[in-house]
Amino acid sequence: MGVALPSDRAAVLFVCLGNICRSPMAEGALRHLAGEAGIALRVDSAGTGDWHVGEPPDRRAQATARRHGVDISGLRGRQVTAADFRRFDHVVALDHANLGNLRALRPADGTARLSLLLDHVAGRAGQAVADPYYGGDAGFETTWAEVTAGAAGLLDLIRRG
Ligand code: 4NP
Repeated sequence: MGVALPSDRAAVLFVCLGNICRSPMAEGALRHLAGEAGIALRVDSAGTGDWHVGEPPDRRAQATARRHGVDISGLRGRQVTAADFRRFDHVVALDHANLGNLRALRPADGTARLSLLLDHVAGRAGQAVADPYYGGDAGFETTWAEVTAGAAGLLDLIRRG
């Protein structure tokens, strides 16, 4: 009953290296799936690096998301902080390097559950979403498929409470 306040929503933060390819695609995919399912979520993304702070997603990431009906053009890069571990329920790393950096950043009072995105996909636990940045356009389609599968698994986990 009543209006759902932001704090009532499960909150998910996706983290990759640059915050211009994989994690904004994951953010767009989860927001899209949650919207279709009518589930209120708070979704964000960040990078472990600071090179692309304030920048929109890579144009190839934007184009791939757009082909799948999702607009991520309004997102802007930011760097992950220790406080994110208190502000989100799930902090989700895209690969093992990100996961290691997040473990090192996590404060003692951090409450977020830390996982790899593909831990939420049956048969793919422990696997990384490969960085498409230095590859061709086809890599971005693979990334989209993987982040969508991961987002769907996370949404199932959140629905089960
Ligand atoms: P992302 O990809 O981590 O998926 O956003 C990258 C984007 C930029 C860089 C590395 C990875 N970079 O080195 O600038």
